[in-house]
Amino acid sequence: MKVLKKIGELVQEADWTKEKHIPVIECADAVKANENFEVKVSIGKEIAHPNTTEHHISWISLYFYPEGEKFPYQIGRYEFNAHGASVQGPNTSSVYTHHAITTWFKTSKPGTIIAVSLCNIHGLWQFSKEIKLS
Ligand SMILES: [Fe+2]
Repeated sequence: MKVLKKIGELVQEADWTKEKHIPVIECADAVKANENFEVKVSIGKEIAHPNTTEHHISWISLYFYPEGEKFPYQIGRYEFNAHGASVQGPNTSSVYTHHAITTWFKTSKPGTIIAVSLCNIHGLWQFSKEIKLS
């Protein structure tokens, strides 16, 4: 069976200082082996992304790809489910989930952290950050 389109071909990348969709990863450049460290991922760090019923970030998925391994591991999946919708209609609930997360994980190997996010109307976006062991 022929694969018509690979998902990776549809994931967009850009300079986060100029593009509002990038899930920017913030954490230490070097971490201690086997010790939990904090990772923050946020969208709209430089240019705010809308958060309305019609236009919002739906989720972030976070992965770690250890150096020398064949596959990445999923660290977490974070859903943003409130975007103003209520029984009165769009943008009437006053409740909006902000599209930013903080989590922790540990690793015994250096590697690459990869964040992928979905805007409900502008598609998939990714950002990656290399971490070393200190
Ligand atoms: Fe968008």
